[in-house]
Amino acid sequence: MLIREATAADLPFLELIVLEAYNWSGPRFTLDWVRADPMAQRYLDGFPGPGDLGVVAAVDGHDVGAVWGRALPADRAGYGFVAPDIPELTAGVVPCARGRGIASALLSALIDLARQGGRPGLSLSVEDGNAARRLYERAGFVVTGREGNSDTMLLRL
Ligand SMILES: CC(C)(COP(=O)(O)OP(=O)(O)OC[C@H]1O[C@@H](n2cnc3c(N)ncnc32)[C@H](O)[C@@H]1OP(=O)(O)O)[C@@H](O)C(=O)NCCC(=O)NCCS
Repeated sequence: MLIREATAADLPFLELIVLEAYNWSGPRFTLDWVRADPMAQRYLDGFPGPGDLGVVAAVDGHDVGAVWGRALPADRAGYGFVAPDIPELTAGVVPCARGRGIASALLSALIDLARQGGRPGLSLSVEDGNAARRLYERAGFVVTGREGNSDTMLLRL
């Protein structure tokens, strides 16, 4: 597996990963829905902007997963917003590549990048019941807020 920094050229793949994140509990949403949803687009539009960072994993030349963070202003915040200088993460791995440590490796690479860049922290939103929570807890994220049926988690760096 190769991990590289995400660029604007990765946006079509990141869009697929947003769809995976929205569909973590089953096929509830379509790509057309993601394209039309203003909240979903906040994780994609203009990436990478100032303060954004991301990594993509590829196996045999095929993209299999990505973790990226958006440093968005409060008036364009995502579900897991904490502060404008704390990038909010989206994470996902294509279904056929799950359970092999790819998300763990991506998250660890992203945390290293964020540390090197002097970021004060990283945040995210995780819905009740999503096993991804374990991944985040292992990396040191702690619950810092609640919105609907989701927890906001924060990793201070
Ligand atoms: C969550 C997700 C990114 C994990 O990717 P992965 O590469 O399979 O993860 P890893 O192999 O590094 O395992 C890390 C943790 O992910 C979870 N996980 C592993 N395989 C999984 C699977 N097939 N389905 C769901 N969660 C899984 C487990 O909690 C695992 O921790 P554990 O080993 O202590 O049980 C992936 O299942 C996914 O893309 N899910 C849909 C999108 C999503 O939910 N994104 C997060 C939104 S907050």
